[in-house]
Amino acid sequence: MRFEPARGLSGDLHAPADKSISHRAALLGAMASEPVRVVRYLRAADTDSTLDAVRALGALVEVHDDEIVVRGCGLREAHEPDAPIDVGNAGTLLRLLPGWLAAQEGRSFMLDGDDSIRRRPVDRVVEPLRQMGAELQATDGRFPPLSVRGGRLRAISWELDVASAQVKSCILLAALAADGATTVGEPARSRDHTERMLLGAGVSIHRNGRHVTVVNADELLLDSINVPGDPSSAAFLVAAGVLVPGSRLLIRDVGVNWTRSGFLRILRRMQGIVLGDLEDESGELSPHEPVSDLDVAHGALEGTIVEPEEVPLAIDELPLVALLGCFAEGETVVRGAQELRVKESDRIAGVVDGLRGLGAEIEATDDGFAVTGSGGLRGGSIDARGDHRLAMVGAVAGLASQEGVEVIGMDAAAVSYPRFVEDLAELAS
Ligand code: S3P
Repeated sequence: MRFEPARGLSGDLHAPADKSISHRAALLGAMASEPVRVVRYLRAADTDSTLDAVRALGALVEVHDDEIVVRGCGLREAHEPDAPIDVGNAGTLLRLLPGWLAAQEGRSFMLDGDDSIRRRPVDRVVEPLRQMGAELQATDGRFPPLSVRGGRLRAISWELDVASAQVKSCILLAALAADGATTVGEPARSRDHTERMLLGAGVSIHRNGRHVTVVNADELLLDSINVPGDPSSAAFLVAAGVLVPGSRLLIRDVGVNWTRSGFLRILRRMQGIVLGDLEDESGELSPHEPVSDLDVAHGALEGTIVEPEEVPLAIDELPLVALLGCFAEGETVVRGAQELRVKESDRIAGVVDGLRGLGAEIEATDDGFAVTGSGGLRGGSIDARGDHRLAMVGAVAGLASQEGVEVIGMDAAAVSYPRFVEDLAELAS
């Protein structure tokens, strides 16, 4: 699909609902004993995989457009399906679901997905869940297909090697059915949607710096969950507004939880014009997920350095930081982001090769990249490598380029943002 240079984007729109929060809402709904209503559930390929998974495990899901009602099976009553659970392309489902399954005593489950999923490491959830008392087997000890046999779980203290909200969340979900209080430590703060939602469900959960402790529970008491706009999807619209001369956009009701707003803070440091009320860093847990409208305008950018502790707070937006760097004055460097190599694709290789093909001066490092601003991008062709976020980077690059960009594999955007191409077209018209 081709994206021609745009002459200015304008309009007022909603970004799609948050993918991370939608996955968690469906899973916690399935683990709850009473029906849970989810308002503005994301309807996209990844979060549809989660609905199929919880149905296969015995939950009933009613779908009314973007509102769903989940009638769950309770913490310890998931059914054993007769076929493997297909997680599709959804890494979050792959890592979170085993936390619940580990607590299903004496029942066995198999998780598998697409070619990209079979390259996503799962040893990071296998090890803590084994320590808690479940039995797990992965291919070569590391990759899906992943089998889980539930057991009687022990509470543990676990220090994560990498800051991963998926692994942290997996352990927290298993901990609900363990025999005491479980503590998880992370090397840097990562998104905390699971903690907020568990607190909202009446669970006893506490944060102390980089550690979170959850006490086992008899049941989850959720009534309804409102899903904010996804800051990671909104980031593509924000970047388009900042990069295309003459643009002015209003993006409504975007989630601004501080553990997700790293990209907006990096962009502001680059002098990007984006107005909105971002949540301040908070030590105290609250069940609330704050939202804000974002008012975005085109403007000149300066290069910046993204340090390792900022990486988890902007992990899915780092390919966009590379794109912004091409248009900024001076150098833009990202460090400590080796996790990008094990996302839906190797996002360091994908973004570096892809943007270089469009005229960027960009070098890969083991744990990130360095871009020298070159006053913009010529254009050309970019391969999304089956990765939704690379596809959307290519599209935004096209709108801001001199000659336009052909994106190979634009359909990957359906994983998180099915209306992306239509939304861009409306803003450009
Ligand atoms: C996610 C956490 C991040 C992120 C992914 C969604 C989540 O992964 O990249 O897109 O919903 O918890 P890691 O926790 O593995 O870094």
